[in-house]
Amino acid sequence: MKVAIVGFGFSAEKGHIPAYRDRSDIHLTAVVDPVTARRAAALRQYQNIRVYETFDDLLEEYSDEIDIIDICLPNAFHMENVKRALAADKHVLCEKPLVLNKAEYYELVEIANQRKRILYPCHNYKFAPAIVHAAYLINSGEIGQPLFASFNIFGAGFQSGVPQWQPDWRKNKELSGGGIMIDHGLDAISVAQTLFGGSPQSISAHTRNLNQAGSQLEDLAVFCLDWEGKLINISLSSLGSIPKAYYRIQGTEGEISIENNDIFLSVKDKPVQHIFVPTYFDDPGHANWFNGVIDNLLDCIKTKNTEPFPLMEAGLVLDIVEKANYSSNNGGTWMGLEFTAKSLQMV
Ligand SMILES: NC(=O)c1ccc[n+]([C@@H]2O[C@H](COP(=O)([O-])OP(=O)(O)OC[C@H]3O[C@@H](n4cnc5c(N)ncnc54)[C@H](O)[C@@H]3O)[C@@H](O)[C@H]2O)c1
Repeated sequence: MKVAIVGFGFSAEKGHIPAYRDRSDIHLTAVVDPVTARRAAALRQYQNIRVYETFDDLLEEYSDEIDIIDICLPNAFHMENVKRALAADKHVLCEKPLVLNKAEYYELVEIANQRKRILYPCHNYKFAPAIVHAAYLINSGEIGQPLFASFNIFGAGFQSGVPQWQPDWRKNKELSGGGIMIDHGLDAISVAQTLFGGSPQSISAHTRNLNQAGSQLEDLAVFCLDWEGKLINISLSSLGSIPKAYYRIQGTEGEISIENNDIFLSVKDKPVQHIFVPTYFDDPGHANWFNGVIDNLLDCIKTKNTEPFPLMEAGLVLDIVEKANYSSNNGGTWMGLEFTAKSLQMV
């Protein structure tokens, strides 16, 4: 499969490229970026690719050499560029969040279905080694029936993009589409789904902007999901100075706690087991998680599965973000969610 990257910034260079380089089943053939220094950065890593200033130039001159378009653009540019890629009959891998609201989401799902192309949002936390291992432990029954989870994600400000474009685009609501909910919230929801399966029914949320003077973006979010009668409590903060992620899952027979590369498994009446799983949540490139994304994308292309699981999940996340805002503006009232396990095709 031949792939072209549109937007050669941080995630393309630090997350996607290292994985492409090590694989023989997917070949990078082209890069699009309007910034000369970013095209030069791409050429330093891959001498025999084509580089283009615009997506239209790429499609006009080199379309035959591309099967998959990999969109690594700032959030607000995803919608129009995914549409352009699908209109050119390409499969699409798109960085997260896929789009910024449910209306855009439904429009893209329909176009992908009409075109019979795979539209695959890059929900890479599903493939973080510690999360994959924790899911394996839960599915093997190690902690019995999971009942409760608490995730604490401590970020250090909003992540910067590459210096040659607009490094602070995440602080601009028009470009980012939202604050910590649409960024880290998306990842936490995807982790919850990977560990608990099924889908949440309702949400109660409190969001705040405590340290973003002059911006409307939330930098703190605390929310609880009713997950088929169990509760998942998620706290997201970008107020700190060192990024840290802690995940704890309690079940009828024991509990799992994840702290960066360390998993602690405590089962009733047994000594605590320490399992080292190199994951590096604190490295935002997450290059070693990306292979799982590519494996799953290539499998969907091979089997013509036009409803890849992360595509359903992208709709669930947008619904949760929308309802979280409403709940927070109304004193944390519980809000029903419209994406169910059935609509997510998980039953
Ligand atoms: N999955 C993950 O773990 C992860 C990690 C980081 C970023 N991301 C996502 O990746 C996306 C990009 O984030 P980033 O941190 O790499 O941003 P970035 O600012 O580092 O890179 C954006 C790149 O897009 C280029 N660009 C701007 N307008 C363009 C256009 N019209 N056509 C082509 N290129 C254009 C810029 O020149 C820049 O090189 C975002 O959606 C972000 O949420 C995901």
